[in-house]
Amino acid sequence: MPEKTKIARVGFGNIGKAVLRAVNKNNKLHGDMEPVGIITRDPPRVLGSLGGYHGISPGQIYNVDNVPAGLDVDVAILCGGSKNDLPKQGPYFANRFNTVDSFDTHAHIKPYVDKDTGVSMPGYLADMDVASRGTGHTAAISIGWDPGTFSDERVAANAFLPGVRAYAFYGLTERGGLSMGHSDAIRTIGNVIDAKSYTHASPEAIERVRSGENPNLAPGDMHWRENFIALGNDTPKERARVESEIETMPDYFKDYKTTATFLTQRELDEGHKDMPHDGLVLAVGENGETIEYKNVWPNNPTGTAGILVAHARAIQRMNREGKIGAHRSIDIPKSYISPHSDKVLTADFM
Ligand SMILES: NC(=O)c1ccc[n+]([C@@H]2O[C@H](COP(=O)([O-])OP(=O)(O)OC[C@H]3O[C@@H](n4cnc5c(N)ncnc54)[C@H](OP(=O)(O)O)[C@@H]3O)[C@@H](O)[C@H]2O)c1
Repeated sequence: MPEKTKIARVGFGNIGKAVLRAVNKNNKLHGDMEPVGIITRDPPRVLGSLGGYHGISPGQIYNVDNVPAGLDVDVAILCGGSKNDLPKQGPYFANRFNTVDSFDTHAHIKPYVDKDTGVSMPGYLADMDVASRGTGHTAAISIGWDPGTFSDERVAANAFLPGVRAYAFYGLTERGGLSMGHSDAIRTIGNVIDAKSYTHASPEAIERVRSGENPNLAPGDMHWRENFIALGNDTPKERARVESEIETMPDYFKDYKTTATFLTQRELDEGHKDMPHDGLVLAVGENGETIEYKNVWPNNPTGTAGILVAHARAIQRMNREGKIGAHRSIDIPKSYISPHSDKVLTADFM
């Protein structure tokens, strides 16, 4: 039997639950990982929502402020929200464990100027590098599909077709795709008890890219955003305030046409049970050279969790090889994410 990578989760929302399912599925199929705990701000909620056997006992649910000193974890997968949780939880836990996260505020991965305070910030990659390197840990940052596998495809397409731009489109179907990051961002607004945010790609923009035009497209030319929101105190005044906060939220909604539809929590639960999403990386040269990569997720957390959990393998191996500090998806060897040996990869996957 292969040695098992011991995997903890920090945060138990949609992604956290899907990560636990993915660890158990990988363990069943490949026998190389085991779930060793859930670290959360709300152990009673997690205990109540765990249900059934998931390889986690009640004693393995830890309060985020009281994680036992000797907790035996090879890799912690950070499943918190990108807007408010990961900027704090990321560096804190990268200092303690090897980590994998799906930080998806694209504009804050690199150095940026904070729009509220005007202060220059080093960005998430640099913060995670300092935090993990200081204690000899390895961090995989912004893993998932975008950023993540779409970043890999953008880099490859741009290198293979010199001078050609790689564009990413999300929400290709009429219903659009459920964005976890944008839904999470709306839930951080006061009085919002739940929200679902759908991204819609512009078919016209996709056609312009397919034609080989390599157009200059602003974010709002490529996508629009459709939001469904449940409020605690649902009054016309509160609806107007929340709608305005959504429309003006930097990095998430400010640059897009957005709509806001207010529902009861029950309507939101009943009408938006599944979490579909899809996307496309498209690069087209002037003579019709085309590189196209697409993923379709009937359930976005399940798709994202599969990617996160596979990268836990890579991070454990890279740490053992002394490759400490923070790494992007594009820095991680593909063979390291696989459950298969080098021999099998050469024989069956080449
Ligand atoms: N890179 C990519 O391709 C990609 C794709 C999808 C998602 N993502 C990222 O993944 C992040 C997490 O998404 P998500 O859908 O899992 O967010 P979520 O369900 O809102 O969970 C975020 C955190 O909120 C807390 N939480 C969850 N349910 C709660 C509840 N009922 N009451 C109170 N607190 C609750 C949990 O922390 P505690 O357990 O500590 O309370 C959880 O870790 C998103 O922000 C997005 O940025 C990235």
